[in-house]
Amino acid sequence: MDKTSSSEIYQTDALIAEDIDAYLAAHQNKSMLRFITCGSVDDGKSTLIGRLLYDSKMIFEDQLAALESDSKKSGTQGEEIDFALLVDGLAAEREQGITIDVAYRFFATEQRKFIVADCPGHEQYTRNMVTGASTADLAVILIDARKGVLVQTRRHSFLCRQLGIRNIVLAVNKMDLIDYDQSKYDAIVADYTAFAASIGIENFTAMPISGFRGDNITTLSANTPWYVGAPLMTHLETVELDTSRDAAKPFRMPVQWVNRPNLDFRGFSGLIATGMVKPGDPVRVLPSGKTSTVKSIVTFGGELEEASAGQSVTICLEDEVDCSRGNVLSVADAPPEVADQFEATIVWMDDEAMLPGRAYLLKLATQTVSATIQAPKYEINVNTMEHLAAKTLELNVIGVAEITTDKPLVFEAYAENRALGGFILIDKINNRTVGAGMLHFSLRRSQNVHWQATSIGREDHAGLKNQKPLVLWFTGLSGSGKSTIANEVEKNLNLMNRHTFLLDGDNIRHGLNKDLGFTDTDRIENIRRVGEVTRLMADAGLIVLTAFISPFRAERQMVRDMLPEGEFVEIFVDTPLEVAEARDVKGLYKKAREGKLKNFTGIDSPYEAPEAPDITVNTVAMTPAEAAEYIVRQIMPLK
Ligand code: ADX
Repeated sequence: MDKTSSSEIYQTDALIAEDIDAYLAAHQNKSMLRFITCGSVDDGKSTLIGRLLYDSKMIFEDQLAALESDSKKSGTQGEEIDFALLVDGLAAEREQGITIDVAYRFFATEQRKFIVADCPGHEQYTRNMVTGASTADLAVILIDARKGVLVQTRRHSFLCRQLGIRNIVLAVNKMDLIDYDQSKYDAIVADYTAFAASIGIENFTAMPISGFRGDNITTLSANTPWYVGAPLMTHLETVELDTSRDAAKPFRMPVQWVNRPNLDFRGFSGLIATGMVKPGDPVRVLPSGKTSTVKSIVTFGGELEEASAGQSVTICLEDEVDCSRGNVLSVADAPPEVADQFEATIVWMDDEAMLPGRAYLLKLATQTVSATIQAPKYEINVNTMEHLAAKTLELNVIGVAEITTDKPLVFEAYAENRALGGFILIDKINNRTVGAGMLHFSLRRSQNVHWQATSIGREDHAGLKNQKPLVLWFTGLSGSGKSTIANEVEKNLNLMNRHTFLLDGDNIRHGLNKDLGFTDTDRIENIRRVGEVTRLMADAGLIVLTAFISPFRAERQMVRDMLPEGEFVEIFVDTPLEVAEARDVKGLYKKAREGKLKNFTGIDSPYEAPEAPDITVNTVAMTPAEAAEYIVRQIMPLK
């Protein structure tokens, strides 16, 4: 058996760098089509993928032998090979280890190489489909000829459309089971055509196939003489790739890193997202807007006369312009937009629902920023395409919401440019990918509000007061003693001639935040506003003390991130629930226990204790005065 073909099948889970290198080396000069197969469990997806692998001669001989004997064992009709066993067998193997939601398979023919994402079809797997579809050039939507267009067909098509897949193949499978009946096939295609138009799919290619029998897979089948199109494999081999479309768009390259091996060389490395570039081209660096000219394009294999979408290159410029990771190099006269507020479609992928107002990390191309999502405008029922009212987004739900980022993003609408319009959301505390999304457009207001530079800065303010700004952030349960201790600390500091201000939960909730209650969303907004006020006061040179339950790690971290390094001191007032409840100074625990007060922290609303507080005070062992003295002693070296 020939060596190359035996090394051609790769599973993503086993996809270590060496495999990719070996694979790419063997097929270096072929174009690559990434596609996704969508269908429910019984639509014959595994059989079809198995068939494609088999027909492209990408199966090990020993696997084939095993397959033949397994097929016999599992009692498949006649002497036919059950291709599903191949794919499902690999899947079973995979599932023993880590759970991988999307399986990627690699194969190649004379014309092209392929990566196929095989996504489970069940309802709850929207996120898997989104993951597989986000990088796909083409989708094969499988239909069981006996069943026709199903709810799942609609859902998958809708998701493919949302994710910008332009090439859709409607593979009407199991034609053998309806005796290759043309009228039934035509009815299914007509049905799908009407639906496709309603969700904005203008073009698709329909074909009657049988993955099991091999009809219209690599060759046209004698069983469907009325079918005038190409076999599936031929279509996959010849369909126009997104990369060729991308090459026709304006040049954009997100900068991955600045390549500066020595003082004589400085280049910007990245993957060209769209367009072409050549030495002498005027370019612009975003977001700064600075312009320069391309001096040279360098790759591992030498300098290039020209480079285009899909190529990884290092670009050297004529001028010493500021440019770093996350910036985007663009053609000078048609740059992408820069903004910090957007409307976007978001697919939520985490068990914990999206929290409006919480700051997540947003990664878009090579840019990483902090982003907060507003309450959704609506969620989309992916089976009926209906828009439904929503307060949040749960696992696997798709919705549309506005997003605000802490720094401007260089972006384009996802529909125009997947690389500069697609993003993922990451939980700042546990680093999980919690969502993915597609930017629609920027909100005008983000471009009309500018930061006003002022002449007297925070150092001037603090300098006059002869101190450094500091934020003493007290966190703990209701009744833990935050306000009492903070008050004592402020008295001590006042005696030491420090300029201070105490922001207290109960007081702020009477004024600035009187519109907020105690849902998770309101608490997040409460802390966001308090964080902003705290920052302003610190800018004014004050030592700010805050006493808020501030139950979530993410928002305490958010405030820490708003301030200069070292200025935020998290003080955990560590009082066990039993103790705070026994004190019950305001009688609120009693009410909460009786069910008369909802969402009470520690009872039916969570408190996330700090994992690494700067200071912890134990109020069982210390009186408030002792705790205050202890805190002052800890912070004084900081002064
Ligand atoms: S936070 O969770 O948003 O940080 P904050 O510190 O502003 O809360 O307000 C907490 C104070 O509000 C408590 O000390 C208590 O007096 C009062 N309160 C009223 N209802 C609740 C509730 N459901 N949960 C917690 N505190 C409540």
